[in-house]
Amino acid sequence: MKPEEHPLHRLFNPESIAVVGASRNPRKIGHIILRNILEAGYRGRVYPVNPNADRILGLRAYPRLTDIPEPVDVAIVAVPAEKVLGVAEDAGRRGVGFLVVISSGFSEVGRRELEEKLVSIARRYGFRVLGPNVAGYLYTPARLNATFGPPRVLEGNIAFVTQSGAFAIALMGATLIEAIGVSAIISVGNKADLDEADLLDYLGVDEHTRVVLHYLEWLRDGRRFLRVLERVAASKPVVVIKAGRSGAGARAAASHTGRLAGSYRVYVSALRQSGALIAKSMEEAFDAAKALAWNPLPEPEKPEEFNVLVVTNGGGAGIQAVDTLEERGVRVREAPESLRGEYARLLPPFASTRNPVDLTGMAPAEWFYEAVRIALRSDWVDALLVLYTQTGLSGPVETAKAILDALRDEGHSKPITVALLGGPECLHAARLLTRNRVPAYPTPERAAAALSFVAEYAWRRWYLREKAGGG
Ligand code: ACO
Repeated sequence: MKPEEHPLHRLFNPESIAVVGASRNPRKIGHIILRNILEAGYRGRVYPVNPNADRILGLRAYPRLTDIPEPVDVAIVAVPAEKVLGVAEDAGRRGVGFLVVISSGFSEVGRRELEEKLVSIARRYGFRVLGPNVAGYLYTPARLNATFGPPRVLEGNIAFVTQSGAFAIALMGATLIEAIGVSAIISVGNKADLDEADLLDYLGVDEHTRVVLHYLEWLRDGRRFLRVLERVAASKPVVVIKAGRSGAGARAAASHTGRLAGSYRVYVSALRQSGALIAKSMEEAFDAAKALAWNPLPEPEKPEEFNVLVVTNGGGAGIQAVDTLEERGVRVREAPESLRGEYARLLPPFASTRNPVDLTGMAPAEWFYEAVRIALRSDWVDALLVLYTQTGLSGPVETAKAILDALRDEGHSKPITVALLGGPECLHAARLLTRNRVPAYPTPERAAAALSFVAEYAWRRWYLREKAGGG
């Protein structure tokens, strides 16, 4: 399906937005949402709705949705819960397509009937509801930031769908620090109507999204989500953090949303079978998302023969990386004789060329350059892990440049992750790499774990396609 034909296309690409409860007070949520919409550079029509104001942030305000003279695609609602049903009736009469309900005070605090009434109004008029109890949503291709988070985010191709509104807002700032560019961040809140399955279905066809990341506490219709997941994961990676791994975590999830989180193990095995890549922490998920979004994703004919080559200037870093890869199911095989011969010609006789290829502590940046080029040219290597520990012979920035030069000269044709261990210069070097969309991490374990997601995705995608092909 083309994105323009998808029923959620207008939610992500609205021609007009109303903010109901657009307060005059700059410290209130409705005001901040309106300001974010304007500051992010959204190009459609914007209508503040507030019965107690004439103008807000330079725009004419309307007392009610029904007073707006033109069509409204999306209405963001930031008025107290008691007033939301009245706003929903107005939205129906105005012909609004989507109601995004920021307001808390629904099923998460036991008021299910209020939420059910909201959904029945939406069904009666034929509009869809995101929320209630959400932090809003953003979609960078449309320059749309309808959240009460910070105004600026880094654009990119990772979409994040989250049951925790706080995570949504936190990630917005983190995009700038961590250089994780996003296409969309969507807070799903109580999921009274639209849920993860609906959003994943859209993000699956969205050409601006390459990787989808979900933070999940519970699913209302698990089977439906798995069906959509299976379809989407066959063409783009879907990383899932399932909350409630421990008994205490599951109890905390239940009190967060008023629902049971379900058995972690049952969830995770079903999600994996349908192609999801499971991350245990936010850090792991974002590390994986970078590696998946910025690298070419391999499509090996025999994923069980997927070969990762580790290149390092420190033996210990190499061992930690190899242990991490193997623990995560990625076999690290000895390099074949021909490849070892190429490295032997570059390196001193005491350097190991088996895999990890140990450039030794005396490696200058040029050896990293050559080592990466050799790996990129090799038919045997499917993915490459480069580990650098700071030495006086090759500075971190110099080494990062050597890696970038090799990728430029040989082509970024294989997945690569890099770890840079050492002092503050390593941070600069990592930034240089990430600015050039080469995923870089501060430890060999994190770089190895991120690369293992790429290897796992190659395997899961192969499996999903075989399954679909085999009927
Ligand atoms: N239509 C339009 N505007 C109205 C209406 C109406 N029917 N009724 C009142 N308003 C105006 C008010 O006059 C006010 O504007 P003003 O300040 O210029 O007078 C504005 O709407 C807001 O109304 P308030 O009654 O002042 O409501 P307030 O802003 O204090 O709270 C809110 C509303 C934010 C929706 C609150 O009820 C709420 O639910 N807060 C929690 C939100 C939240 O956390 N959501 C989950 C996010 S996830 C996470 O954890 C980050």
